[in-house]
Amino acid sequence: MSSPFLDQLSYGGDYNPEQWSREVWLEDVKLMKEANVNLVTLGVFAWANIEVADGKYEFGWLDEIFDLLHENGIGVDLATATASPPAWLTRKWPEVLPVTNQGVRHSHGGRQAYCVSSPIYKQKAADLAGRLAERYSKHPALKMWHVNNEYGCHNPLCFCDQSEIAWRSWLKLRYSNLDELNRAWGTNFWSQKYHDWEEINVPAETPAGTYPNPSMFLDFRRFSHYQILDLYRAEKDQIRKFDSSTPITTNFMSMKHSGNLNYWDWANEVDFVATDHYLNAEDPKNYIDLAFQADLTRGFAQGKPWLLMEHSTSAVNWQQRNIAKSHGEMIANSMSHIARGSNGAMFFQWRQSISGSEKFHSAMFPHAGRKSRIWRSVVELGKQIHDLGNLSKTQTQRAQVAMIFDYESWWALSQMNLPSTSISYPELAHDWYRALWELGVRVDFVSPNSLLEDLNAYELVLAPMQYLMSDSQEQVLSNYVANGKNLISSYFTGISNEDDSIKTGGYGGKLATDVIGIHVEEFAPARSNEFVELSNGYKATEWSQFAEATTANVLAKFSSGEASGSAAIVRSRSANAWYIGTRLDDASCRQFFDSVIGELRLAREGGDGVEVVRRGRTKFLINHNTNQVSWEE
Ligand code: GLA
Repeated sequence: MSSPFLDQLSYGGDYNPEQWSREVWLEDVKLMKEANVNLVTLGVFAWANIEVADGKYEFGWLDEIFDLLHENGIGVDLATATASPPAWLTRKWPEVLPVTNQGVRHSHGGRQAYCVSSPIYKQKAADLAGRLAERYSKHPALKMWHVNNEYGCHNPLCFCDQSEIAWRSWLKLRYSNLDELNRAWGTNFWSQKYHDWEEINVPAETPAGTYPNPSMFLDFRRFSHYQILDLYRAEKDQIRKFDSSTPITTNFMSMKHSGNLNYWDWANEVDFVATDHYLNAEDPKNYIDLAFQADLTRGFAQGKPWLLMEHSTSAVNWQQRNIAKSHGEMIANSMSHIARGSNGAMFFQWRQSISGSEKFHSAMFPHAGRKSRIWRSVVELGKQIHDLGNLSKTQTQRAQVAMIFDYESWWALSQMNLPSTSISYPELAHDWYRALWELGVRVDFVSPNSLLEDLNAYELVLAPMQYLMSDSQEQVLSNYVANGKNLISSYFTGISNEDDSIKTGGYGGKLATDVIGIHVEEFAPARSNEFVELSNGYKATEWSQFAEATTANVLAKFSSGEASGSAAIVRSRSANAWYIGTRLDDASCRQFFDSVIGELRLAREGGDGVEVVRRGRTKFLINHNTNQVSWEE
């Protein structure tokens, strides 16, 4: 599919002209041209302004703004406007509103107030997408389709009656019979055995101190994820009836706090990958978190260019303290995304709202108007992006290290009744990534279902806390190591199979027992705020375990806590598989990776707060320090 997305870098943001008068529109396009804006996302939350009553459409204002943008050389990323159903819809069909796990039906008034299994919502959303495609597919300003918005952000799970019906149908397809389901969920426990499909409910809140069956809940996450993907497909199919060529996408949320959807699946359904990214403003090194998200997004895109659909020019409105970006931070953020594969930098939003709950969220054109540092930076960034010329067809250089990122393990570990509530899948992945970033080592991300040939492209693969591991995933990693390539895995990796049933005979499955050569017999999680000492001087938190090396060499033992004397960090006899049995603190983690990267002679560039990334023939050097640095080639 030929795509204007590939022809140039995009610069712009969400544009909500329905919030403004015609005079403001005229000023907007002038300002957009001044800032080199070439793409805006229209209509994300405009359902109530387009379909004003059931089947009654008002396209006039949208026609006008489409034409105005086109006359001024600005392209349109047209949203299907389905992210927030209008009041007439939820009034007529209140069953569309989602229900919490406590049985409370949400009210209209926020956004994404729909049940992901609602047949009415699905039908109405697809109809609207089709009407928009019918009307605008031939408009010369149309550059791409933006289906819905940040799917699963506010309504990832719904516990209503319609969901229950859909859930049972999904289970019937997944498990050919109830025996299979009972086996997978281990229902000979707490009288959970099912004898009839109709007995299966949605895993809503259970009596205090008890929780739904974890295997069932894991399946409910899978089910909900696929229901949402089906909503996307329904809209996409409808668009394709009228428009066979314009690229269709939706904005992912590949961020640390949002693991509701498994984007490895979604990446196969979009014509190009797009994502949103917002910094945790209070994290002094949030640019590393940004790099993680950008690299992960490039992983979904299989190395190809992707698009940063939203970030912020300065403060957001939804954190505890919405800290303003420092001077130059916005441009550094945008460039970091572009270096890591984004074909441009888009923002939420173009003009800062004066009403509604996002009126204190920064925008490209702020309340203060032209006389503002934000506007000056927006103009400056527009010029810089314009000057980057034909970077859009290039790719970010492949890394030598790949990290497996596994949403299903994240889902399984987001439940209760684990050995410790302190363990966090994304935190450990971020710890390891951060250490490598600080060492100037670039990281690509790969799916847990990668094939051996995909992994073979890397010198080193990381599998932090990959709690769920199917036999085939375990086999691929074992073969990778057998091929002489290098693997680092951690505690709580390979604990359960894909049903979340424990692999017995030493925790960690064959990967631990046969490939690495460690026997983990019992977990010994740390107390809150307790440091765990290691015999090589490293410090750790959160975790220790009773373990002994069978064939592996011990690099460090636990030297404090209950498991003192047990193997903490080991290396396989074959010398190319490492296992870290605890959560190392930042300094120790860096030291560990420094030694491995040094021994494997993997490339390093940057570090000490300076980010170095190569894309095509362009080398990006981004200084995140507050002081200037000089850089020697
Ligand atoms: C998300 C949404 C936007 C906006 C921003 C605010 O990214 O997609 O509509 O609400 O958050 O940060």
